[in-house]
Amino acid sequence: MRSIVSVLCVLLLSGLAPLQAATAPVVLVTGSNRGLGLEFVKQYAGKGWTVIATVRDPSTAPELAALAAQHRNITVEKLDVGNRAEIVALAAKYQGKPIDVLLNNAGLLGDREKQGLKQLDYATFEEVLRVNTYAPLAMAQAFMPNVVASEQKKIVTLTSGLSSIANTKRSADLYFYRVSKAGVNMAMHALQSDVREQGVKVGILAPGMVETRLLRQSGYAGAAGVLSTEQSVAAVIRNIENLNQDAEIVLYTGEKVPW
Ligand SMILES: NC(=O)c1ccc[n+]([C@@H]2O[C@H](COP(=O)([O-])OP(=O)(O)OC[C@H]3O[C@@H](n4cnc5c(N)ncnc54)[C@H](OP(=O)(O)O)[C@@H]3O)[C@@H](O)[C@H]2O)c1
Repeated sequence: MRSIVSVLCVLLLSGLAPLQAATAPVVLVTGSNRGLGLEFVKQYAGKGWTVIATVRDPSTAPELAALAAQHRNITVEKLDVGNRAEIVALAAKYQGKPIDVLLNNAGLLGDREKQGLKQLDYATFEEVLRVNTYAPLAMAQAFMPNVVASEQKKIVTLTSGLSSIANTKRSADLYFYRVSKAGVNMAMHALQSDVREQGVKVGILAPGMVETRLLRQSGYAGAAGVLSTEQSVAAVIRNIENLNQDAEIVLYTGEKVPW
């Protein structure tokens, strides 16, 4: 009798299993209306992830809106990462919801002509620091409980090869952008030490030179080896999949960039 009950239980459970859909991993992307951010949303949604696509002004993000209309797994949220009150409010909205990958993509180059030695515009410097340096740390702080509660526990910030002190031998333009990215590298490296024991993995990933508005503003658009957003994002996602707890700067190719 007992064995019949066991068999019935197994049959019942195996019959029910397909009905219980596995929970999809969740990624939150900042700056997802264009460039690399929009492509991250596209590729993660295509992989079946649940995507929280944040954008400074949803009313001026038609490509993202069209993508969200095609994919039920994309939720668009308004977030100006330069505004800490908005970050805190969004984290409160998502309280108790696991986030597997927190992806700090939003970034600002700042006007090129305002960050050379001939003219250093400090208001521009503050804005660049607010978006590139303070915001990723504020995001990590606000969403840490969501990341810790998730399966994958990853915090990723996009940095730039221009942040490398070791590689800044000749050209030294774009002071603000370089400083802001070198600063966020340190913030993320320190963060890794802080959250290592909670199992969190912190990534500092450089996407390469990618054909976006930011690259065109930088003056590097015609350089050799420029990637499409599709190529760069596919490679960065592979690096996110392989993330460890070293918190070093990793290029899209998987090579380490010297600090
Ligand atoms: N492209 C490259 O070659 C390259 C190389 C190295 C690193 N990166 C890094 O990659 C990341 C993405 O850049 P991208 O190349 O895709 O540049 P992009 O096309 O200029 O996109 C930048 C994104 O950041 C968003 N953003 C800027 N300030 C924001 C704010 N206060 N709040 C919310 N979003 C804000 C922009 O939104 P709005 O439209 O609202 O301004 C836009 O979505 C950046 O962190 C950048 O530094 C890019």
